Amino acid sequence: MDNYFNNKVTWITGASSGIGEELAYALSTAGSQLILSGRRMDELERVKRACSHPEQVQLLQLDLADAASLDDKAAAALNCFGHIGIMVHNGGITQRSLVVETAMDVQRRIMEVDYFSYVALTRALLPHFIARKAGHFVVTSSVMGKIGTPMRSAYAAAKHALHGFFDCLRAEVAADGIKVTILTPGYIRTNISLYALTNKAYGLGKPSENIENGLPADRAAKQILKAIKRGSFEPYIGRFAAERIALWVNRLAPGLLIRMAPKLVPK
Ligand SMILES: NC(=O)c1ccc[n+]([C@@H]2O[C@H](COP(=O)([O-])OP(=O)(O)OC[C@H]3O[C@@H](n4cnc5c(N)ncnc54)[C@H](OP(=O)(O)O)[C@@H]3O)[C@@H](O)[C@H]2O)c1
Repeated sequence: MDNYFNNKVTWITGASSGIGEELAYALSTAGSQLILSGRRMDELERVKRACSHPEQVQLLQLDLADAASLDDKAAAALNCFGHIGIMVHNGGITQRSLVVETAMDVQRRIMEVDYFSYVALTRALLPHFIARKAGHFVVTSSVMGKIGTPMRSAYAAAKHALHGFFDCLRAEVAADGIKVTILTPGYIRTNISLYALTNKAYGLGKPSENIENGLPADRAAKQILKAIKRGSFEPYIGRFAAERIALWVNRLAPGLLIRMAPKLVPK
């Protein structure tokens, strides 16, 4: 990779694990100055130590479910290096439960963490991006942000909402030199299913077969860096032809995919 990321300040949420962790390593190697966020400081410290340039990494603890704190967190992030060039909205939780059994607090919690926190941090950073006439929002959605399958109602709803919000934002701020990339990963091998919310709002606590067979997160990070550099609008991230095909079928013949959806129960 050339020097595209060199000295760019990048704030990554969900950097204590999985895709965010591997993005931190790839961006540090590419010369980015990093702000890494998540709730678990011990895990963020571990990631920082493993980065190629730990001296260029600052840590900012944050809970995406704590809506009242997010304006202050954005201000603190801006103070870390004086500006932010790339905001990677990546922290999140998933779900494994049927609509009929899912409590409203689970539905609300997933929207809070996976959708409203992204909106809040974006609103807080936007004046800064507009004043600089630069900035790039990178948003980790999912294939579930384009299609809906059983046991993912809240998660798919939050990810679909991200597409609506960030497509509108892209159209509003393109003239200000601000870019928006909405990543649509398929299955990526991370710990996400361990913390999936079930019908009772606690973690599923077990790995999922599909995730275990997914693209390793370091390879996902490489694909993501390429997509950021290209300024892609909505790149697929993953390894499965079936996921790519599902996204295309959804575009060209959504009725066909809706008929297939009952069979797409996550393993
Ligand atoms: N893995 C996949 O197959 C897949 C597919 C499509 C999309 N995605 C998306 O990729 C993103 C990253 O997930 P991952 O697969 O890398 O899972 P992961 O390894 O479980 O990482 C999730 C990250 O989100 C953070 N997080 C969770 N709840 C948070 C909260 N309330 N406040 C702050 N940070 C929080 C976690 O940090 P702390 O626990 O330290 O707070 C962790 O760093 C998510 O948005 C997910 O929806 C994943």
